[in-house]
Amino acid sequence: MSTARTIPVWAPIGDATAAWFEAQAADAVQDVVVVGAGIAGLTTAACLLREGRQVLVVDRGGVGAGETLRTTAHLASALDDRFTLLQRHHGKDGARLAAASHAAAIDWIEDLANGAPDCGFHRVPGYLYSHAGEPEGLRREMQAARESGLEVRWCEAGEELPARFGPAIRFAGQARIDAGGYLLALAREVRDAGGRFLRAHVQRVAGGDEPVLHLDDDSVLRVRAVVVAANVPFHGTTATFPKQAPYRTYVVAGRVPAGTVPDALIWDDADPYHYVRLRETADPEWMELLVGGEDHRTGQDDDPQAYARLQEWTRERFPQVESFHAAWSGQVLEPADGLAFIGADPHHDNVWLITGDSGNGMTHGTLGGLLVADLVQGRDNPWRELYEPSRQPLRAGGEWLRENANAVLQYRDWVRPAQVAEVADIAPGTGAVLRRGLHRVAVYRAGDGSVHAYSARCTHMGCVVRWSGEEKSWDCPCHGSRFEARTGVVLNGPANAPLAPYALEDED
Ligand SMILES: Cc1cc2nc3c(=O)[nH]c(=O)nc-3n(C[C@H](O)[C@H](O)[C@H](O)COP(=O)(O)OP(=O)(O)OC[C@H]3O[C@@H](n4cnc5c(N)ncnc54)[C@H](O)[C@@H]3O)c2cc1C
Ligand code: FES
Repeated sequence: MSTARTIPVWAPIGDATAAWFEAQAADAVQDVVVVGAGIAGLTTAACLLREGRQVLVVDRGGVGAGETLRTTAHLASALDDRFTLLQRHHGKDGARLAAASHAAAIDWIEDLANGAPDCGFHRVPGYLYSHAGEPEGLRREMQAARESGLEVRWCEAGEELPARFGPAIRFAGQARIDAGGYLLALAREVRDAGGRFLRAHVQRVAGGDEPVLHLDDDSVLRVRAVVVAANVPFHGTTATFPKQAPYRTYVVAGRVPAGTVPDALIWDDADPYHYVRLRETADPEWMELLVGGEDHRTGQDDDPQAYARLQEWTRERFPQVESFHAAWSGQVLEPADGLAFIGADPHHDNVWLITGDSGNGMTHGTLGGLLVADLVQGRDNPWRELYEPSRQPLRAGGEWLRENANAVLQYRDWVRPAQVAEVADIAPGTGAVLRRGLHRVAVYRAGDGSVHAYSARCTHMGCVVRWSGEEKSWDCPCHGSRFEARTGVVLNGPANAPLAPYALEDED
């Protein structure tokens, strides 16, 4: 099962890889178990296999069931949180190290993509322009990016981008990739190097000299090392979730005549920002234009107009766009200080984490694999301290406090009036939260007339879930867990247990 019902443009690869999965793991102690078959987990597996380790990849949904195939796959060392901010949070040395680590991730991806078909890897420039037409902020960002080691230069309006964008910073050495083709190539590398795959939902992870994983069929895996690359840690560690905030982000895709839009990564400094790239189509006369943005905190400000606004934004800036043929959404975790949390889980021995992907999760996931593979092998790595999961983002204190205060405020839903009084008040194809005594009940009334009722208490830390009309899911406004409307199963963590069924009929 994918984490959302909208359909991205990338070729799904679940079927091509389904037969690789074992139904049950052998009893023997495993060497390394990687939880998560997205870009972070598979890169970690590939790196450890290259070192001669034995790796079992465990995923509940198969290869690419998470956010990796919902991406737009810009590969950027020009980080979207921007270098003026990274310098403030991590110092000039930290910002330089961050840029270098993402550049190394792009090189690693390029190496693998060059040896495999259909990865669609292309080096392209990146352009950051000012949404409000304010070049002063851009000048400061260019200076900070240059100090961080990036190759940048000033582009006057109309020089390389259409004049309506105004002046821009040009970043050399960025890239784009076909997410489906690349993830399949990465998974093949893992399989061909002797990596094994197990389809299972990991319910618990306990660290120790010999960590233990509890699976949904009640079996237990004993291992030497565990890497939790599940996008969001689900195993009760408190190391990261209070330091990162979940956002939903939206993408639309349309066709443009080839040669009419620069082949580049383009983004602006709006809040939320817009991001743009091209992708080849089967017809060389046309390119596909992918445009993303309209981010909002998961479970808050559910907005049915997000796609319409993105289309309008696109038409204003790229009037040559033909009708739009795809639209989808996905989830990103925004770390308070702009960088992912990668490394040892401070609460569980021999457990390693990769989370806090941000809008640069393809490169964060890749460098996460390189970094964690070093740490599992007992080697130090120059990026270790920068990405340490136990770090406190003190210099980002204001942002950190704001996001946590926001999460705490969401508990108000327990004392607010219910959205509707009765199931009959819920329109078919939608959901709403009802009140039943002290309980809140999440009720989905499907288009076929069936009614699906669950306790609206999020199984992570008890916030009341809210209805997402776009993805037809129950989304938690506190830390971003999401649940499927018909079954109540978890789509995104940190929750790891389904919503509890609620028997409406018993009331009658
Ligand atoms: C719309 C959108 C646009 C984006 N654009 C870009 C971009 O242009 N550039 C960029 O760099 N990044 C981008 N990102 C971010 C990037 O795509 C993601 O950060 C990245 O793909 C996350 O990879 P991952 O391996 O961490 O997680 P995932 O791909 O989500 O993989 C995690 C896996 O773990 C499995 N799992 C979870 N819990 C369990 C469990 N308990 N038991 C077993 N299995 C479990 C899931 O099934 C899943 O397959 C974008 C994201 C979105 C949503
Ligand atoms: S995700 Fe934390 S309470 Fe729901």
